[in-house]
Amino acid sequence: MLEVKNDSVELMVTSPPYPMIAMWDELFCRADPNIASLWRIRELSNEEKTVRQIYDAMHKSLAKVWAETHRVLCNGGLACINIGDATRSINGKFQLFPNHSRITEECEKIGFTSLPYILWKKPTNKPAYKGKGAFLGSGFLPPNAYVTLDCEFILIFRKGNLRKFPPKDPSRYNSVLTKKQRDEWFSQIWTLKGTRQKAGALERRTAAYPEEIANRLIRMFSIEGETVLDPFLGSGTTVKVANEIGRNCIGYEIDRKLLTIIDSRIDLHTENVEIIKR
Ligand SMILES: C[S@@+](CC[C@H](N)C(=O)[O-])C[C@H]1O[C@@H](n2cnc3c(N)ncnc32)[C@H](O)[C@@H]1O
Repeated sequence: MLEVKNDSVELMVTSPPYPMIAMWDELFCRADPNIASLWRIRELSNEEKTVRQIYDAMHKSLAKVWAETHRVLCNGGLACINIGDATRSINGKFQLFPNHSRITEECEKIGFTSLPYILWKKPTNKPAYKGKGAFLGSGFLPPNAYVTLDCEFILIFRKGNLRKFPPKDPSRYNSVLTKKQRDEWFSQIWTLKGTRQKAGALERRTAAYPEEIANRLIRMFSIEGETVLDPFLGSGTTVKVANEIGRNCIGYEIDRKLLTIIDSRIDLHTENVEIIKR
């Protein structure tokens, strides 16, 4: 994130591509040729240990972004990362890839402090069947069924120490939450429906989170006029919400085709927006 100065951002809100979820395999291969060659080795050898190496390499690739986020956040700045765990059958053996714990480890190594996280519970009526739904097996006969994977994580990390403000800082007081918001948003489980992507295959590829997630996190962890960063913009949910609630926003997106979707959600053609194409 060469354009972003050290210590210049107050909050990062993002959802990266999820390691070991098939829809993101190709993107990780393009990001790191080592991951692509490990997949080829895996096709030839069928070894489980190669899958472990792929999983490690995917997290190392994401960790570069967490390290850059640490650099650009101010002292006391916060990073909120929405991530789901992945399940996959490897050589016929079903297993969990706990992405949330790997990201936590990487962020702690970088120097972030872990804070209590949020579990985003998605209500689902989908019948669970053969790993395509949430668990394998009927669930009635013990012991071989799996627990439903119906929560994602919103991990929260701090750089440095608590932020300090002058007494009665007007921007801080203008950003005050209501009692209802405080009580509901600072509880650990958020039950919210996922987003229905209407714009077809392209938008589905972004796996967008609901605006309500961005809205809550931005209001809880930043004040008016501050800067929010999203290094994995997708359809641009974070910039859209940040803009609506009086925050500045910096976003990165590798897939140029998504620019049209982002443009349809916020007007990119105003003097307040700078687009840098690399
Ligand atoms: C899970 S999606 C983000 C969805 C987003 N929160 C939304 O609401 O639409 C992850 C996005 O990161 C993008 N991406 C992946 N690697 C990237 C990179 N190195 N730099 C910038 N964007 C990247 C992908 O193209 C994808 O659109």
